[in-house]
Amino acid sequence: MKEEDLLKLINPEKMPRHIAIIMDGNGRWAKQQGLLRVMGHKAGIEAIKDIITMCSDIGIQALTLYAFSVENWHRPKIEINSLMKLLKIFLRNEINELQRKNVKVMAIGRIQELPLFAQQEIYNAIDKTKNNTGLILNLALNYSGRVDILEAVRKIIEKYESSGLNLKEFDEESFSSFLYTSGLPEPDLLIRTSGEYRLSNFMLWQLAYTELWITDILWPDFRKIHLLKAILDYQKRKRRFGKIHEGEECSENE
Ligand code: IPE
Ligand code: IPE
Ligand code: MG
Repeated sequence: MKEEDLLKLINPEKMPRHIAIIMDGNGRWAKQQGLLRVMGHKAGIEAIKDIITMCSDIGIQALTLYAFSVENWHRPKIEINSLMKLLKIFLRNEINELQRKNVKVMAIGRIQELPLFAQQEIYNAIDKTKNNTGLILNLALNYSGRVDILEAVRKIIEKYESSGLNLKEFDEESFSSFLYTSGLPEPDLLIRTSGEYRLSNFMLWQLAYTELWITDILWPDFRKIHLLKAILDYQKRKRRFGKIHEGEECSENE
């Protein structure tokens, strides 16, 4: 089916509010083309632009892109440097377009540990777009789900020691407000490309009830049409959150 036809099938009433994507497969894509891994990362930027445009056009509230994990520091230096440079180039080249689309840039992860030139570009994009009211583009950079939880625990202890906390009333919502994603709805839909069936330390708390959509497509080949397919699949899912739906009750003699 074509993009226009898929778009017509989308139910605007059942849109995922927050889509999170594990953008995987750049290296394998490059290898398939006989290219260096960095060329795969470069090609991945086209997919990022396409997906931002579609999310913005169809009114998605937030898009989180897993761009660099804490574990990715274990890759060769040359690859890490290329990724950081690509991040800088992407933000620099796209900032005007992001503004035009009313996109608000955010970042989660240990941003303070990224190279200074990358930090500057990120903070500049966040600052320039801070009053925008359209799609929230949330970049997960130097991110780890476990570190997200750990840092929340540290902040909670600090708060407890400095000003106290009502532990009896401290619930899941209170805990969430200490995570990097505070203020964002939890992801409704998680997409992972390149056919790997794992979370790779991504949003461990936030994904508790997220619908998963995994495709063999490698990230540089991922386009609007694939996103629409994922959303259509999502709209067919029955989200139960541990409950049962009306009419599914056991009858007394069952
Ligand atoms: C995803 O592609 C990009 C990052 C993790 C930064 P990979 O670089 O992991 O590509 P594969 O998994 O080796 O194919
Ligand atoms: C996950 O991909 C991290 C990002 C997409 C940034 P990886 O390629 O690093 O994950 P593993 O190593 O296959 O689990
Ligand atoms: Mg990978």
